[in-house]
Amino acid sequence: MTQTADPQQQAEQQENPLAEGLALKRTPDPCALVIFGASGDLTHKKLMPALYALAVRHLLPPRFAIVGVARTDGDDEGFRRDMETAVKQHARDPFKEDVWDELAGQMHYVAMDFADPGGEDTVHDVLERLDEEQQLGGNRVYYLAVPPPAFPTIVEALGKRRDDRGWTRLVVEKPFGHDLESAKQLTATLMEYFTEDEIFRIDHYLGKETVQNMLALRFANGIFEPIWNRQFVDHVQITVAESIGIESRAGYYEHAGAIRDIFQNHLLQLLAITAMEPPIDFRSDSVHNEKVKVLRALHTPGPRSVVRGQYGRGFVEGEEVVAYREEAGVAPESMTETYVAAKLYVDNWRWADTPFYVRMGKRLARHETTIAIEFKQAPHPPFEETAAEGLRPNVLIVHVQPDEGVSLAIGAKVPGQGMTIRTVHMDFLYGGTFRTGMPEAYERLILDTMLGDQTLFTRADEVEEQWKLVDAIIAGWQRDRPAFPNYPSGTWGPPSAEDLMHRDGREWRRP
Ligand code: BG6
Repeated sequence: MTQTADPQQQAEQQENPLAEGLALKRTPDPCALVIFGASGDLTHKKLMPALYALAVRHLLPPRFAIVGVARTDGDDEGFRRDMETAVKQHARDPFKEDVWDELAGQMHYVAMDFADPGGEDTVHDVLERLDEEQQLGGNRVYYLAVPPPAFPTIVEALGKRRDDRGWTRLVVEKPFGHDLESAKQLTATLMEYFTEDEIFRIDHYLGKETVQNMLALRFANGIFEPIWNRQFVDHVQITVAESIGIESRAGYYEHAGAIRDIFQNHLLQLLAITAMEPPIDFRSDSVHNEKVKVLRALHTPGPRSVVRGQYGRGFVEGEEVVAYREEAGVAPESMTETYVAAKLYVDNWRWADTPFYVRMGKRLARHETTIAIEFKQAPHPPFEETAAEGLRPNVLIVHVQPDEGVSLAIGAKVPGQGMTIRTVHMDFLYGGTFRTGMPEAYERLILDTMLGDQTLFTRADEVEEQWKLVDAIIAGWQRDRPAFPNYPSGTWGPPSAEDLMHRDGREWRRP
């Protein structure tokens, strides 16, 4: 799945793609990384800190250039200073002058209006010069960290200036479209100039270590796969809970809502990875093929199986916060949802009749992403009823974040004379087991783009399946108008989300 310049490494990787996927050190070919949207939040908070982390670990290409492109006036020096501040503020590693100086020396800036065709010529000229000076071989990663309306202009300008030297990769940030139609349209625009294997659609959840660990947990251990199905699993719960509100993103969020912001991408990807069949290998297409089968098998939930919510005022982590409708830039009568819960079914042999309960929301009681596989009760516990009162079914919980790890809830005897059973947890915590810190998702994803490895990106057909489901759910929402706000900030969502579970005799897991 990965292309590397070293033939020996290439041969080893072909023999063992899984080992390659887990290999620690992989060095990309020389290349230029062009970031469109270099003055934006994503570049400051995620991309540049990730590049710095890669630099600290000597994972960047031996010959490398970063070209920041944005509308804001500026020059190389100003860009470097701005990025230095961003790195000092957001990087996970301590600031090291020597690492920074080397990285900053590779950074360049082009001020340009995306709608101005002359601007693209400047970018092109800078790249030509860098190619020549640094022998980058014409290899390029174009990173579109700009609002979607700017995509077509940039893509066309890049496409028209393509030549056949080196490789080209185009990284597209979310949201990838607004619905199925626009997503297809966007793919068609990209495909006028680029091929599917040059297009890297980001879903940053796939870059999270714990999400990748779901693959390791399932497919590197013999004990889980035989029980990972409808015979043994009672149901699955996936929670993407955030305590933050919409921050200063009303312009985007008002049109997206929780369903487009989290459900369409991160949530459905977590579900696909949990439910997919074992791929025949860990090559990109093999993994995508299995995920897309799950997405295709998802049933559109009926109206009673979907709950939406919007936060009102309340207290989050001891602080008083405003209602969604009071956030700057939000319409006072806004009907945008900040919470969604749903009961989904994956209609295939492995999962038929096994509910996947999912929920996601902003301004919830705490920040937590988990995937919980709840197994069926033991068929005949030979204990007196009172002895096992505190006993709950076995649950395997993948803590995606924070407190990354995996825990298994099992019944154990309480020490003493009688036979009292209680639920206890066997925990694996990343922090306590591995001494290396947790890489940020963007580190892995940027590196994978330079390596040409698409495994942790989403393919066009996956995105389309995700939109099909979302479009169908949204179509169902036209019929009613919930009384928003319907949950106070700092709680676990609207009461109707509890009813969704209670109707089935189940409960949402409480952290
Ligand atoms: C983004 C959403 O994709 O993911 C944000 O647009 C959300 O609204 C964020 O806050 C959550 O990401 P993470 O990595 O902090 O869980």
